[in-house]
Amino acid sequence: MRRISICTIGLAFLAGMGLASSFKAEGADLSKGKSIYMELCIACHGLDGRGVGSVRLNPPPRDLTSAGVQEKLDAGLFKSIHDGRKNTAMGTWKHALSDEQIRDVIMYVRTLGGGASSLPKP
Ligand code: HEC
Repeated sequence: MRRISICTIGLAFLAGMGLASSFKAEGADLSKGKSIYMELCIACHGLDGRGVGSVRLNPPPRDLTSAGVQEKLDAGLFKSIHDGRKNTAMGTWKHALSDEQIRDVIMYVRTLGGGASSLPKP
């Protein structure tokens, strides 16, 4: 529960930032990435990226905050999103999203790994 509230604050902060300025880093647009995520990815991956408990998929949506996902290079995540993952509910997004939009959404996925995530606490 505590995790969720920290996440909510984080998201509210990101939302504020998105309004104040279109935050850019490494050529990707975080605020655009966030809207893409909220529109297309949240149904399976959930608000905090940990997956939606009520959605029963086999295999289940990957926990986007996990080290397993966050340790992958951008190129690996790009391939997973662009081409999809064979024999899973994670379909190909190459028809729906441009390469640039995929980069934007990866930027957002990276923020899910920060803050209240699986990273070890100091
Ligand atoms: C219909 C449900 C569904 C939707 C919608 C969905 N995903 Fe997934 N996603 C999955 C599942 C299931 C997996 C696990 C695939 C596996 O086990 O290999 C996954 C895995 C992933 C992974 C991990 C891939 C890896 O290489 O480990 C990433 C990153 C990801 N999704 C991002 C996204 C993004 C970004 C969107 C929105 C554009 C999205 N997903 C939309 C179901 C979904």
